[in-house]
Amino acid sequence: MRLLIAFCILGLSWLSIAESEESKIVCYFGSWAVYRTGNGKIEISDLDPKLCTHMIYTFVGITEAGEVEVLDAWADLPDNWGRAGFQKFNALRELNPGMKTLVAIGGWNQGSDRYSRVAGNSALRSHFANNAMEFVLKYEFDGLDFDWEYPNQRGGTPADVENFVLLLKELRDRFDEHDLILTAAVAATEDSASLSYNIPSISKYLDFINIMTYDFHGSWDPVTGHNAPLYPTTRDTTAIARRLNVNASVHYWLSRGTPAEKLVLGTALYGRTFTLSNSGQNSPGSAASGPGTAGPYTGERGMLGYNEICEQQMKPTWTTAWDDQQRVPYAHSGNQWVTYDNVESITEKANYAKTMGLGGAMVWSIETDDFRGICGSKYPLLNALNQVLR
Ligand SMILES: *[C@@H]1O[C@H](CO)[C@@H](O)[C@H](O)[C@H]1NC(C)=O
Repeated sequence: MRLLIAFCILGLSWLSIAESEESKIVCYFGSWAVYRTGNGKIEISDLDPKLCTHMIYTFVGITEAGEVEVLDAWADLPDNWGRAGFQKFNALRELNPGMKTLVAIGGWNQGSDRYSRVAGNSALRSHFANNAMEFVLKYEFDGLDFDWEYPNQRGGTPADVENFVLLLKELRDRFDEHDLILTAAVAATEDSASLSYNIPSISKYLDFINIMTYDFHGSWDPVTGHNAPLYPTTRDTTAIARRLNVNASVHYWLSRGTPAEKLVLGTALYGRTFTLSNSGQNSPGSAASGPGTAGPYTGERGMLGYNEICEQQMKPTWTTAWDDQQRVPYAHSGNQWVTYDNVESITEKANYAKTMGLGGAMVWSIETDDFRGICGSKYPLLNALNQVLR
């Protein structure tokens, strides 16, 4: 009997260690990439679920009435000759049975005001919690990722901060009835997060938190700067500038009471681009006149997928460099300047997540890794994270 108890205790502690040591690799999928062309076009069958512990399908929206709204019925649903994106995505679990799938609601383009109105009304909150639970069950996801960008910003109100907590509490109650996962993607910097979140309370209701530690600099700035620097640079002379990096953001969230193991470190599988004012001045902090040229697949000025960046760098006109202070690469050619992450910087971030005891790493987003292996082996950045964290 005593032996049996000893075994049980051993078994339990072994299990809990094993569980807490399993790092998450959370892979967002931007489902509109199915409309890209050439080497940028991805099918759900091109995704490699073995490289992720969680995959998140983006995005669905919210209606005025507090219901989940499918934004692209043709891509997401099987009806009317649709492409059944939800179904194919969830079937990826067959290739990696431990992997969980979530659907993300919100995102930048959905804005903030509808979320603000639903969260601010108790009847709409309950209706939404119920509807979201039913939606997740109906389409057979394992959970929901809340991407309200952001409470109390972009048209929201100060009451959003506590209303978001109430909404998450209600979702948590409903989701617990079916063992569903509830997560959120959150603004990273102190200057943004302190406006939007009651950090201890949202941390209580969420299974884990995807911290969007990127977009620190981009073509909205007058000078070149890094999308996702790990640390500040000596050029950061103001307090605000010194907060625009991964380390400062992670320390802020931890200092406000998020348990480290709930925090999942965001990494960027894309870069941000600038047009230099003067081609001869191409170090970080050089004058820029605006966004860089759009890429052939993503088609948006000011950003490029890592797949576009690595293809571009196969041309001899591109020069790459490494920022020793900020621990990220950059590249330039003529008046075009790109800040991005490569295997080296992603590896360093994965080691950082590990050293800090975080829950793992997240990628935004899987379809702009070099998923075809045009520049080398397939999924180089996602593989680099797996090398360190699993
Ligand atoms: C990371 O941030 C913490 C908290 O602000 C700071 O104490 C530490 O020096 C930073 N690390 C580096 C290498 O800048």
